[in-house]
Amino acid sequence: MISFYKHNLKKNKNYLKDTISSPYLTSGPVCEKVENLLKKKFNKKFAILSNSWTNGLISILLSLELKPKDEVIIPACTFVACANVVEMTGAKVVFADIDPKTKLMDLNDCLKKISKNTKVIMPVHLYGNLFNTYKLRKKIRKNIFIIEDSAHAFCGEYNNNPLGKFSDFTVFSFYATKSITCGEGGAIITNHKSYSDKIRSISNNGMTKPAFKRFVNNKYIPWDVYNYGFKSNLSDINASILVDQIREYSKIAKQKKIIFKKFKKELSKIPQISFPTEKPNKYRDYYLFPIGVKKKFRDKLIEHLLKKKIFVTVNFNSITRLNYYKKKYKKPMCPISENWGLEQLSLPFHVKLKDNEIKTIYLEIKKFFDKN
Ligand SMILES: Cc1ncc(COP(=O)(O)O)c(C=O)c1O
Repeated sequence: MISFYKHNLKKNKNYLKDTISSPYLTSGPVCEKVENLLKKKFNKKFAILSNSWTNGLISILLSLELKPKDEVIIPACTFVACANVVEMTGAKVVFADIDPKTKLMDLNDCLKKISKNTKVIMPVHLYGNLFNTYKLRKKIRKNIFIIEDSAHAFCGEYNNNPLGKFSDFTVFSFYATKSITCGEGGAIITNHKSYSDKIRSISNNGMTKPAFKRFVNNKYIPWDVYNYGFKSNLSDINASILVDQIREYSKIAKQKKIIFKKFKKELSKIPQISFPTEKPNKYRDYYLFPIGVKKKFRDKLIEHLLKKKIFVTVNFNSITRLNYYKKKYKKPMCPISENWGLEQLSLPFHVKLKDNEIKTIYLEIKKFFDKN
């Protein structure tokens, strides 16, 4: 069996030892420590942990007070959470098509879809391949917020500019299969103080002080509620698992790059396979190993690999083809995303993927095309 994903947590390490002996199990000093690590790593003034990317995003969109006429542009090819979070706020999703080579949001299509109601644009660093947020920022009006979906990228630079530099908010996911994980979790980084304060309060039922900040030097600090909120804060239990992973990520990222290149070199020998194009000048993260094959072969190839116990999946079916969105947003016209959604499959990819597993995957795909 070749697993789709294997996490990199150390079996013998007791990540929770200090947390369990402290009085804080919910958001407390460990969350603060992780937030400080993130601020430093990405050179941002504020970091707020959340219990998922999805809930982090909802807390940002609530802080922006979107109205039903407001529009949020997202790429059509991404995880459905990107559209769902907009629906949750009552605003309107606008789908931009993807670039046929990189599979990232097509900048020109995105610019065409900007209207007077556009409030937010949410590019996605799909598969870890960095979208050029700088170019987008230069071409749009100042009152449009950019939220970078960095669920697939925990490191990267574009023309020497680190990930997150040109956006208002950058949001990470620490979901089970992500580069860094605590099972479920997420984080927001930003330089906006007022929004950061608002998001923190929204993420804790609208309270002005979380439990951790309500008792200082044996004094009770009163709290109030100015806006409603919900519950999207991360616990210290989850955050404890993140500390070492964040510190060690540059080492992991290097290993992943080596494995990715080796894998790509091997599979490049099969002419029926295509890969999303990478821009040569950027330092990037590697998350997922997507390949494209002709539509007529895709599902049969998935079946063949699953039969051989090689676990693969699809990332992602175009959101514009998903029932709810197809019905609600008629004909959003994203043909490239829709095509890629029918051609794409993701192969096993993680830091523990072995050379012999890469070879087996290559041989099985080759066998499939030799027969078909
Ligand atoms: C591109 C993208 N955005 C957002 C998310 C949502 O992340 P979470 O599961 O942490 O809410 C995912 C999750 O897989 C994703 O792939």
